[in-house]
Amino acid sequence: MKKIIFDCDPGVDDAVALFLAFASPQDLDILAITTVAGNVAADLTARNAAVIRQIAGREDVPIHAGARAPLIRPPFDAGAFHGESGLGDLPLFEPAKGVEPGHAAQVIADLVMNHAPGEITLAVTGPFTNLALAIRLEPDIVERLGPVVVMGGARREGGNITASAEYNIWADPHAADIVFSSGAACVVMGLDVTHQVRSDPARTAAIAAVDTPAARASAALLEFSNAIERDIVGGSGAPIHDPCVVAYLLAPQLFTLRPCELRVETASPLTLGHTAVEFRIDPTAARIQWATGADADGVFALLTERLAR
Ligand code: RIB
Ligand code: CA
Repeated sequence: MKKIIFDCDPGVDDAVALFLAFASPQDLDILAITTVAGNVAADLTARNAAVIRQIAGREDVPIHAGARAPLIRPPFDAGAFHGESGLGDLPLFEPAKGVEPGHAAQVIADLVMNHAPGEITLAVTGPFTNLALAIRLEPDIVERLGPVVVMGGARREGGNITASAEYNIWADPHAADIVFSSGAACVVMGLDVTHQVRSDPARTAAIAAVDTPAARASAALLEFSNAIERDIVGGSGAPIHDPCVVAYLLAPQLFTLRPCELRVETASPLTLGHTAVEFRIDPTAARIQWATGADADGVFALLTERLAR
């Protein structure tokens, strides 16, 4: 059983990742969901997390809202990929239970300091603003965090929001720089690996055939992403970026990692948010592991099985 804090910006793929985490109570003790401005504005990411939580029947898990903007850059939402609501065309409702008081950054700092070193793993699937603020509030959390497992960055794949940057890093490069240079142990699911894990029609249909609220909602979310992938990119299956973070927490053997040093561009207008991933290092000294491969069929088998629970 892993104790986790799940920081996210739901977001269509964040939502599927949340369903996977909520469906795995025997593996993941979710101490808190924390939300951040990203794909859509902060009030919507908080509302969306509560909507997904209610569909999943997991209102035992508290949600804390966090940063309303990146540390320095202005907010820039990715509504083109997630729809105006942030949850594609999912029928929305006002969740019965809302967020708890307490800012996400303070909640992350307090939970990590109130647990034994290494006891809490942090999953981050949106811009890193809340974690960067938590590190500034309480620098001692860096050594106490179990690994931080994040979705972000790109090396071989190039960028998805600019030619050279992936959205989560580009949206708040200063926060990402604070996190990656902090010395925290990180496992990084960049586009190099998430682009290997795509919800092609057969995989999406397998999820759509599962008769549970979480599977029905996930299938609708994946179909929304696939339609955008067809229209914008011309592909047949959208990459499921954020579920790769939860799949790693549940089944790390599905992924191949490589030790690296990782630096973030925070100044260049042309390459802002670029992640420079360097493998020519002393592997024994590496604090960051870069995911280079995934067993995509294994990830979808895990996702489909858990959504059926
Ligand atoms: O680049 C993909 C990432 O940006 C995902 O986390 C997606 O939800 C968006 O936030
Ligand atoms: Ca996200």
